[in-house]
Amino acid sequence: MSDIVYLNGGFMPVEEARIPVLDRGFIFGDGVYEVIPVYSKRPFRLDEHLRRLQYSLDKIRIANPHTAEEWQRLTGEIVKRNDGKDQSVYLQVTRGVAKRDHAFPKGIKPTVFMMSSPLVTPAPALVESGVACVTAEDYRWLNCDIKSVSLLGNCLLRQLSADAGAAETILFRDGNLTEASSSNVFVVKDGRLLTPPKDNLVLPGITYDVVLEIAHAREFEVEIRAVTVAEVRDADEIWVTSSTKEVLAVTTLDGKPVGDGKPGPLFRRMHALYQQFKKDHMRIAA
Ligand code: PDD
Repeated sequence: MSDIVYLNGGFMPVEEARIPVLDRGFIFGDGVYEVIPVYSKRPFRLDEHLRRLQYSLDKIRIANPHTAEEWQRLTGEIVKRNDGKDQSVYLQVTRGVAKRDHAFPKGIKPTVFMMSSPLVTPAPALVESGVACVTAEDYRWLNCDIKSVSLLGNCLLRQLSADAGAAETILFRDGNLTEASSSNVFVVKDGRLLTPPKDNLVLPGITYDVVLEIAHAREFEVEIRAVTVAEVRDADEIWVTSSTKEVLAVTTLDGKPVGDGKPGPLFRRMHALYQQFKKDHMRIAA
């Protein structure tokens, strides 16, 4: 079966979906997006993703083209129309189509696009081994809280790790940890879980929130505060989190082992709790 996508009111095979070349998403990267994990055909944390979508739209001054109920219905439809129980639903809203001019055109309709891909969460072997990461200076703009489709900075930074055969690029700005090119970052030191606060320098990750919710419920010692480069380099454990990676241990950083070079005890505990959290979600959503 060919992938079915949604574009501006209709569902169609991906090969048939067309957007005009003057779409501001294409010309300016003028749009926002979400990636929603779906387990056993059930979207995970959909309300939270839709709230973040609203936040991003408000920040770039696009009126939300759909109500939350409409988004829920469209998400349900795209999941139903595509194969596979576990899916990754991508949705994007751009400002729409207009003659090229930086200033916002008046009276245009946003372009709404949705697609679904198989959700490939890290294989058990990768969870066991952990992944390699490299570091780089975070030179992106100062609105990283907006889930913008303008991802050139993130792509260039991610490619540094790809070139090194590593899974992610962990970013530092002004001597502190921000996030990674497409994930949030947690650090463990002396049994304490450290992570930067949600501000304009990081994407407010939905997985980040789930991890913190679990950590608080299970009485992990948590500190949400600026984390220095030195603390990252000296960490006992480092984790990256995202909707597609879930929680993944980083076992080498710039070629050096993190802690003893194996996923640590807090990671193992959090990973198991996260899997349980997902199972509970699937039962409740059923
Ligand atoms: N990326 N930080 C950045 C820069 C991201 O792009 C992402 C997600 C995250 C984690 O957010 P969440 O937990 O809500 O997935 C943090 C998605 C998966 C992507 O662009 O494919």
